[in-house]
Amino acid sequence: MNSQTIQKKYGFKFPFKPDPLAAKAFRYCKGKRLLDVGCGEGADSAFFAQKRKRFEVTAFDVNKEYLNRFRAYRRDQKLSNISILERSATTYSYPPNTYNVINCLLVICCMKRSQFERIIGPLKHSVKPGGIIIMSSRNYLDPELKESINSKKAIEPNTFRRKEDCCQFIYFIERNRLREVFHGFEILYYYEGFVPCKYNQHPKHGDSHIICRRRK
Ligand SMILES: C[S@@+](CC[C@H](N)C(=O)[O-])C[C@H]1O[C@@H](n2cnc3c(N)ncnc32)[C@H](O)[C@@H]1O
Repeated sequence: MNSQTIQKKYGFKFPFKPDPLAAKAFRYCKGKRLLDVGCGEGADSAFFAQKRKRFEVTAFDVNKEYLNRFRAYRRDQKLSNISILERSATTYSYPPNTYNVINCLLVICCMKRSQFERIIGPLKHSVKPGGIIIMSSRNYLDPELKESINSKKAIEPNTFRRKEDCCQFIYFIERNRLREVFHGFEILYYYEGFVPCKYNQHPKHGDSHIICRRRK
């Protein structure tokens, strides 16, 4: 089934395709346990679980509807190596030294800056030494930041409330910030700049992307 047929069959809101950053990171992803933080409708989790059957994928999100659609897909595809949980990234109890891979794409920008600051330490320590973290966020270049500054009051630096879309908040990560928080990790790939919208909703976005490895 191609991505459009899958999208139609399960009623997915977004194209059911892996994020290009997850696809780029795949070759670095070894071991067994993979955590997908804010998995959305599950396209990345399904990608990892299908590419490597020995991955045990734990995927969580706060959005019940997304998770229900993902559960239907998992059932039909018999992806018994994926566990799907309704959890929040801000309260999840990240077990130390546990995962070989943590994938967290476009989720830290769905929280307040202070929440990101609180979870980043536990999230970093939840990956095993030698393990990989894949993370992306909307950033200071995103056209929505300018619009937000002109039309709304920031509730925290670079953080605004949102009325529509999937998230309550939007945080635009600062220049170089993603690299700085992974100080001490080996940086395998880093990018800050403009990217096309993978959901086909906007002409372009400003994003920060990182693939990094916890040193042994
Ligand atoms: C822009 S989507 C990204 C989804 C997926 N990671 C992807 O790359 O397509 C943001 C996702 O984060 C989820 N989300 C927002 N706040 C969250 C939180 N505190 N904990 C877990 N998921 C959250 C939303 O429900 C949504 O599925």
